[in-house]
Amino acid sequence: VVKLGLDMPKLFETLDDFYQSSFVSIEQLNLNSATELINLIKQTKDNPNSLSNRAKNKILYSLFFNDSTRTRFSTETAWLKLGGQIVSQVGTNGSSLNKGETMYHTLATYASYLPDIIAIRCNEANLPLKATTWFPSISWVNCGDASNEHPTQAILDLFTISEVISDISKLKIAFVGDIKHGRTVRSLSKLLNLFGAQMYFVAPVSLQNQKEYELDKISYQYVDIENLIDIVQEVDIIYATRPQIERMNDSDKQKYQNGVYQITNQIMNSTRAKLLHPLPIDSSVFPEIHPEVDSHPQALYFQQMENGLYARMAILSLIVSGNQVFTNNNQTNKNFKSY
Ligand code: CP
Repeated sequence: VVKLGLDMPKLFETLDDFYQSSFVSIEQLNLNSATELINLIKQTKDNPNSLSNRAKNKILYSLFFNDSTRTRFSTETAWLKLGGQIVSQVGTNGSSLNKGETMYHTLATYASYLPDIIAIRCNEANLPLKATTWFPSISWVNCGDASNEHPTQAILDLFTISEVISDISKLKIAFVGDIKHGRTVRSLSKLLNLFGAQMYFVAPVSLQNQKEYELDKISYQYVDIENLIDIVQEVDIIYATRPQIERMNDSDKQKYQNGVYQITNQIMNSTRAKLLHPLPIDSSVFPEIHPEVDSHPQALYFQQMENGLYARMAILSLIVSGNQVFTNNNQTNKNFKSY
């Protein structure tokens, strides 16, 4: 597969293909490997200590050039729980990037010291993919590149959905918020596309982008956010995202700031749907989910956040030590249908 003239790293037909590979795009997965990975994360969550030496004597470079709470801490904690060691870069402070060095020279420097894995978050779309072609001997993990992708987030999102919905092919999900710029929606919708889930993209007109998504198999439609209250009755999962009001037109911005589209307990009480959000929720202007919803029984976003640890333990373990983790353990996610 070629993207932007760059070869995509190895595609994952099975979990064996993760070994010493890079994970920069959800497009590397197929239905089989995605299903196997969800089952592996279930095993990891049930028995996290069984992975405790998988990264022993291995080094992770954790490069978070952009802000992160969950992805950085869950990635670094996952690695430490695997027994590995970490060198971190947070932002650009202390880096020669601040002296005008190019990102290419910076990454060349990191790669030359032979870490086993480099996890990277950045505000340049496709930089992780470029890094795999520049320095193919390193295993790169994309922890979010601008508006492009957030593949490990999509995996933990799917795992969280699998904890409540056994047959993803029958899933109905409403993505609510910034459909146009949200990397989590982009990655998760591609992943759910493999399963044939039915998706609704619910956004104000200025945050929809019908050409952005190359979704072939699925049943999907765009819905104006004015119809949010109707659509939540239809779905199993509401996946809310930060609306990024700075990107809205004035009319849409006014409606958001008036709280017209905020998810409240009243909305949650009108539906059986579970509520996910990759977090953070932006509380600075007008939170897209009212704080009262945090304790609503259908709000799963804290469970989702916690699952990031197990998802990243499983992914990093596969990359650094291969698919030998649970070879003698036939336990799988009994609730999750095989495809
Ligand atoms: N979901 C997510 O990527 O959160 P952080 O930005 O806190 O890492």
